[in-house]
Amino acid sequence: MMGAVVRRMRGGDLDAVVAIEEASYPTPWSRAVFAHESTAEGRVWLVAESGGEVIGYAGLTVVEDEAHVMNLAVAPEARGQGIGAALLARLMLAARESGIGRITLEVRERNSAALSLYRSAGFAEAGRRQAYYSETGEDALLMWTDDLSAPQQLTAIEALHARGQEGLDSFTGPSETGGGLGGRGLRGREIVLGIETSCDETAAAVLRCGFEVMSGVVASQVDFHSRFGGVVPEIASRKHTEAIVGVVDKALEEAGVCLTDLDAIAVTYGPGLVGALVVGVAYAKGLSFASGVPLVGVNHLEGHLFANVLADPSIEPPLVALVVSGGHTSLVYVPRWGDYEILGETLDDAAGEAFDKVAKVLGLGYPGGPAISRLAKEGDPNAIAFPRAMIRSGDYRFSLSGLKTAVINHLRHEREAGREISVPDVAASFQQAVIDVQIDKSVRAALEWGVSTFCIAGGVAANPALREGLRVALEREGIALAVPPLALCTDNAAMIAAAGTFRLRRGEFMPLDAEAVPNLPLG
Ligand code: KG4
Ligand code: ZN
Repeated sequence: MMGAVVRRMRGGDLDAVVAIEEASYPTPWSRAVFAHESTAEGRVWLVAESGGEVIGYAGLTVVEDEAHVMNLAVAPEARGQGIGAALLARLMLAARESGIGRITLEVRERNSAALSLYRSAGFAEAGRRQAYYSETGEDALLMWTDDLSAPQQLTAIEALHARGQEGLDSFTGPSETGGGLGGRGLRGREIVLGIETSCDETAAAVLRCGFEVMSGVVASQVDFHSRFGGVVPEIASRKHTEAIVGVVDKALEEAGVCLTDLDAIAVTYGPGLVGALVVGVAYAKGLSFASGVPLVGVNHLEGHLFANVLADPSIEPPLVALVVSGGHTSLVYVPRWGDYEILGETLDDAAGEAFDKVAKVLGLGYPGGPAISRLAKEGDPNAIAFPRAMIRSGDYRFSLSGLKTAVINHLRHEREAGREISVPDVAASFQQAVIDVQIDKSVRAALEWGVSTFCIAGGVAANPALREGLRVALEREGIALAVPPLALCTDNAAMIAAAGTFRLRRGEFMPLDAEAVPNLPLG
């Protein structure tokens, strides 16, 4: 579905706005008038946009505690679909937000579509200006709302807003017969802010064109959690709240853009820790509401998959992906972006979780993955024969909790026998046991699904032994391995902006009343 959004008017919209104005009124405003109006003090100018095309606009000016609707028009091709209602409702809500008492406007007496829209919004005729429109000699009707806080007026605005939202959501694009809208064709040049707060990193990034990283800021809380040996949800939530404003500001500043330059704000809304997710989601909603920039909700795991696009924008499904993070271990078939079929998942611990738990047992601190992979380089991966759980199960499921127990048992056994423990050997042998199963199942899945591209995603994709082992094994079968840039394997916001750009291009937006979904599945 295409859908449409309402956002603030920007300089780049003027060509399209003037084209719609000229198609709508016998004495249209000039481009210069719009240029002035849209930047002047005390104005609210909005556009409706679908698939990168401006399809309507509306503006309001504030005079003391009253507001005047100055203009409202919808492209001929897009009329009758609720876009006018959406624009007017948003103007009225903005007026209410800024404490405006009543709103007024003038309308041509013969413009019955506009009259019925305004009447449904609570405007009533209060006067008439004789022969106001000189080119036709038509009268102007002067209309006023009630006080915006009056109950019946509020009900009218809410009903209008609901109707408008329905129109935006179900908008399927301008009708074929319409001809050009004068739009600028957004696709390919989008600037998207990504926000990520699903676990223990507060991250923001600005991305252009879906893959050019203009800035990326990650405020890690790892040091706060490491003393507890893992992520403490209450701490995560509090630290996100403290960091988010600064992190987003810095990302915008480093990219040299301001909010109004953005085409979308993409935010992770699941899966993750609920208290952590809500911080990002609430902040993104606030930014979207204040700026009129549309909001896009991103699945964190889809974000991890899109980290691959940041290394190589030409990657295209069909592909199979191994998603290995602190919370997930799955093999996923991706026939096309946005369509995910889980082939198998872990029955117990996730791969990253296994690394973290074993690191804790070995006294290596949190997070364990980087510490184990560093030590493993100095150890012998064949020193200890840890189990390869489910390697012959014939499916794509994993089980990792037994491996942790095997490591604990091995350590106890060695200590009891009075033998010195080689931590690098344990680390290397444990790591090899994890990745042997992952490589075996990955190659089988890629062959069974007949793909020529394979991706890895998630924090564990930063593991050098896994990257290299998979590359070699897939290469033998003529399958290419795509990997995300090392720094973008673990949680970051560039990947969220990348997945967000994809969703934006599909016209999939997140309503302002949407909530975080801690157990959000992929697919
Ligand atoms: O994707 P991520 O940053 O957060 C989640 O979405 O869970 O993944 C974090 C996980 C941690 O468990 C961490 O130990 C693991 O990724 N990790 C690694 C490596 N770097 C991070 N695991 C193995 N080897 C690594 N080099
Ligand atoms: Zn993650």
